[in-house]
Amino acid sequence: MIKFITAYDVLPIRNEVLRDGRLTPDECRFAGDDAETAFHLGYYVGEELVCIASFHPQAYGDFKGKAYQLRGMATTEPYRGKGYGNMLVNFAITYMRGQKVNYVWCNARKKAAAFYLSLGFEIISPEFKVHGIGPHYVMYVKIQ
Ligand SMILES: CC(C)(COP(=O)(O)OP(=O)(O)OC[C@H]1O[C@@H](n2cnc3c(N)ncnc32)[C@H](O)[C@@H]1OP(=O)(O)O)[C@@H](O)C(=O)NCCC(=O)NCCS
Repeated sequence: MIKFITAYDVLPIRNEVLRDGRLTPDECRFAGDDAETAFHLGYYVGEELVCIASFHPQAYGDFKGKAYQLRGMATTEPYRGKGYGNMLVNFAITYMRGQKVNYVWCNARKKAAAFYLSLGFEIISPEFKVHGIGPHYVMYVKIQ
């Protein structure tokens, strides 16, 4: 089941999946997580939160229109490849369409590019490196 969750709820999975458990939950906060127009989604299997994504109101470069940046996309290891990530992002896109959002973008790990491509995102930047994490692309999907 998909739920709107808090900026606090996402921190343990951010740490475990995206930072290899190296940080404290507090160090996994992103600037803007608590903004009133930011939102966070979680996929629950029973009582267990297994997949998270955060959406911050943020334009990309000089792209026009109402925009969100997808951040902190992660599914816990035992639950990957079951379509939860896909369902979470599609839920978010449907929600944002209702909010008259024009596009969503993210800094996608190269390893996750196929996941975003399968959701209709396109690669819109050359490959770039994020220190300590690895190669990335900017990816984008138009909503309306
Ligand atoms: C990237 C990530 C978030 C994807 O989440 P997920 O819940 O596994 O995503 P899905 O199950 O919806 O899709 C993953 C893949 O499994 C496939 N899949 C979907 N349903 C499936 C099923 N029932 N059985 C097997 N595979 C399935 C999808 O087609 C997709 O394949 P693709 O990579 O070729 O596109 C997850 O792998 C993850 O947390 N990775 C580590 C952290 C990371 O890289 N995050 C992204 C940072 S930019």
